[in-house]
Amino acid sequence: MLKVGIIGASGYTGAELARVLSGHPKVEITVITSRKWAGRPLGDCYPGLAHIDLKFVNHVEEDVTGKADLFFTALPHKAAMEAVKSCLDAGKKVVDLSADFRLADVKTYEEHYGPHSCPELLSEAVYGLAEIYGDEIAGARLVANPGCYPTSALLPLYPLIKEGIIDAQGLIIDAKSGVTGAGRDANETTHFCHAHESIKAYKIASHRHTPEIEAQLSLAAGDGVQVVFTPHLIPMGRGMLSTIYATPAPNTTTTVTREAVESVWAKAYADSPFVNVAKGDGLPDSAHVRGTNCCIMAVRVDERNGRLIILSAIDNLAKGASTQAIQNMNIMMGWDQSEGLDLAPLYP
Ligand SMILES: NC(=O)c1ccc[n+]([C@@H]2O[C@H](COP(=O)([O-])OP(=O)(O)OC[C@H]3O[C@@H](n4cnc5c(N)ncnc54)[C@H](OP(=O)(O)O)[C@@H]3O)[C@@H](O)[C@H]2O)c1
Repeated sequence: MLKVGIIGASGYTGAELARVLSGHPKVEITVITSRKWAGRPLGDCYPGLAHIDLKFVNHVEEDVTGKADLFFTALPHKAAMEAVKSCLDAGKKVVDLSADFRLADVKTYEEHYGPHSCPELLSEAVYGLAEIYGDEIAGARLVANPGCYPTSALLPLYPLIKEGIIDAQGLIIDAKSGVTGAGRDANETTHFCHAHESIKAYKIASHRHTPEIEAQLSLAAGDGVQVVFTPHLIPMGRGMLSTIYATPAPNTTTTVTREAVESVWAKAYADSPFVNVAKGDGLPDSAHVRGTNCCIMAVRVDERNGRLIILSAIDNLAKGASTQAIQNMNIMMGWDQSEGLDLAPLYP
């Protein structure tokens, strides 16, 4: 059994990691951390996870790196980079759920997040979009798990841009997230009284996931890409839907049809059990992926203006964070990528 540690297990992505890892046949959770809950059992913080018989340790005060062979770091950016470095220095493998290692360019990172204390690790970190970078992830000791919004946008867009059938410029990504996307601590916009009867856009033209999406799409295009990305908070616990407006590539000779887009996806994701295209009249719906590692995508063409309307649904806490991190661990360990991830959706 592989010994795994969850640094930041009191948070939402940490709890989701614990929930799914506790059913994984090849791992044993050997250490969980929190500052606030240090010394108390996991079941005090999450009673539904009391079957995991572990007490929280404060990793800021105590070195936990000897207690596992692979660590998931589920901390806010900045706090994550120190923890990641300690684990790597101790010879451990790491899947980091924060944004600290997702941008290879330190200048871009520092422009959006402030100073980086271990920029030397940025070039080593592999971007953990498992369906695109599986080969690189297999040999990695540090995987930078993608953000939730980038996962939902990149899975449909990356292969379409790589194949050159849509215009890499002028993309509009209109995305909606459940409130768990903001983490466990409530604030004035995420607490129940405000969030349950409201929908709002936020961080317009300034969200930190924009450079992450653009960096990956630029790699697909082989050229600099800019997108318009508008995130929204919706009255739902978990789940994410991105609606993306695209135009066919300017020099395509054939009309871009639903069939053409679906055939690019079918080829790109032939060996990917977690990426599915909605069949027939079906459209992506976050209810059908809740608690799973799946992404459901669809495309429609507005025949009047030639625009492509692309949709993608994921669970922000699962494929957008913790189950994708487990998929990455599976690939790093040379296991089947689906190990421990055969999860039915949490209906209703
Ligand atoms: N939520 C999502 O949908 C989502 C999706 C993709 C990626 N992510 C990323 O995943 C990471 C965790 O997100 P989350 O939603 O799970 O956050 P969260 O619910 O706020 O949990 C944060 C965790 O980090 C610990 N922590 C907070 N500040 C710390 C500090 N300064 N030093 C040490 N530990 C600290 C907390 O422990 P204490 O108990 O000690 O406070 C808690 O365990 C973030 O980087 C986030 O951006 C989140």
